[in-house]
Amino acid sequence: MKFFIATDHAGIEYKDFVKNLLTSKGIEVEDLGPHSKERVDYPDYARKCAEAVRDNEDSFGILICGTGIGMSIAANKVKGVRAALCHDAYTAAMARAHNEAQILCFGQRVLGLGTVESVIEAFLTTKPEGGRHKQRVEKIMKIED
Ligand code: RB5
Repeated sequence: MKFFIATDHAGIEYKDFVKNLLTSKGIEVEDLGPHSKERVDYPDYARKCAEAVRDNEDSFGILICGTGIGMSIAANKVKGVRAALCHDAYTAAMARAHNEAQILCFGQRVLGLGTVESVIEAFLTTKPEGGRHKQRVEKIMKIED
């Protein structure tokens, strides 16, 4: 399992925490930046991460900005990608179980680090439920045709 991670300036303070959490679980992580706290535009990093997930089979992504909203809107513009803005363990679990999201988005200005840990744990450990949910995911993807 490989994760790509990217943030903007309003999410960068959580990047190392998340990277360490994933690597401590034996998960490979590629940091797509930014690598300084200078102001950047979140669509540039959302696009980088979403394209990497699109191009690497069985990979996942984590995008962090101030709220997670801009990152999720931008990442979902990349064909084949399902990015979910999650606020707690429940929404992160549902993002995998029902929506088969490959990219987890959240906001550094919204979630504390304890919640981030439980959100990531839920995203990592929940499997897609399939069945009627799979059919709905397929309908989402058909909107791109
Ligand atoms: C940056 O100020 C902020 O707008 C951005 O991080 C994000 O929250 C956008 O959705």
